[in-house]
Amino acid sequence: MKNYNDIATDGGSDVLGQVAEQLDRLNQRLKRIRTMIAVMSGKGGVGKSTVTACMADALTRSGIRTGVMDADLNGPCMMQMMGVSDFKPLSRNGSMAAARNEFGIPVMSMGMFLPGEYTPLVWEANTQQGAYTWRSMVEMSALRELLSDTDWGDLDVLLIDLPPGAERLQNLADLLPNLSGTVVVTTPSLVAMKVVGRSISMATEIAKVRVAGVIENMSAVVCPACDYRDQFFRGDSTVKDLAEAHNVPYLGAIPYDQGLAYYLDSGESYLKHHPSKPAAAAILEITQRMVSWIKPQFS
Ligand SMILES: Nc1ncnc2c1ncn2[C@@H]1O[C@H](COP(=O)(O)OP(=O)(O)OP(=O)(O)O)[C@@H](O)[C@H]1O
Ligand SMILES: [Mg+2]
Repeated sequence: MKNYNDIATDGGSDVLGQVAEQLDRLNQRLKRIRTMIAVMSGKGGVGKSTVTACMADALTRSGIRTGVMDADLNGPCMMQMMGVSDFKPLSRNGSMAAARNEFGIPVMSMGMFLPGEYTPLVWEANTQQGAYTWRSMVEMSALRELLSDTDWGDLDVLLIDLPPGAERLQNLADLLPNLSGTVVVTTPSLVAMKVVGRSISMATEIAKVRVAGVIENMSAVVCPACDYRDQFFRGDSTVKDLAEAHNVPYLGAIPYDQGLAYYLDSGESYLKHHPSKPAAAAILEITQRMVSWIKPQFS
């Protein structure tokens, strides 16, 4: 069986021409989006998607036109978290309407194109390294297609929810040279912070992407009955120190709240249901700091 390594020529399909044409379409689409911000972390499961969904909600509540792109092909969850699981994308003449949630937030997800809910994604290649390269290539070309085919309308901010791994930011920066910046999410566990420290270095030194700030997620646990607050992870290092050491802004801390997980699982707005809970207050505060960072970039 042949794989992409065996392809010596494009067999007359003018792959390069097609890519150039698609990049041109991508640029046309992106002209209507004022800023693009990637939500990233070297570490998995720290709350990137949670932050993306909640920040999109909070930005929209502040009158900032926001869209969400789920760039996680292996573990897409934005459709669920944004309450658009039933959306069926329809492409007409290379243009596709994004799903819209109850607040009109446009959402597009790689997950919309996967076969079944539980079908695993298998990357066929002769070696593990080949599978890895293949996966990155397929992910990025799928993302390029989705970004250029989606009719986002006019947006102030497009939040891009990345899968775990610092290299994903580098791939995205290659695809989107106009990427405005990145928000880095971590929990205050030492294990996560060590990995995330490397992600920040990767963002600033290698990918040359501006870090809008670091968000500390699951900083504390709050009792749902009495709002008693305790540390979630115990340790001496803090996320504030991590941000300071890398000379990037610290945006704030979101406590663990089982209500937040519940509403995201149900695809409903946590901010709508619990606007005055400590986690909601933190999300709103962090978002205001982001607004101050984003607004000067509007042209
Ligand atoms: N502050 C929080 N309070 C309660 N639950 C949270 C909080 N942050 C995240 N969660 C829950 O933790 C789980 C993992 O969060 P999430 O999917 O956002 O992480 P992720 O970094 O995007 O993961 P992945 O690396 O797989 O993309 C989810 O079920 C989410 O609801
Ligand atoms: Mg995620």
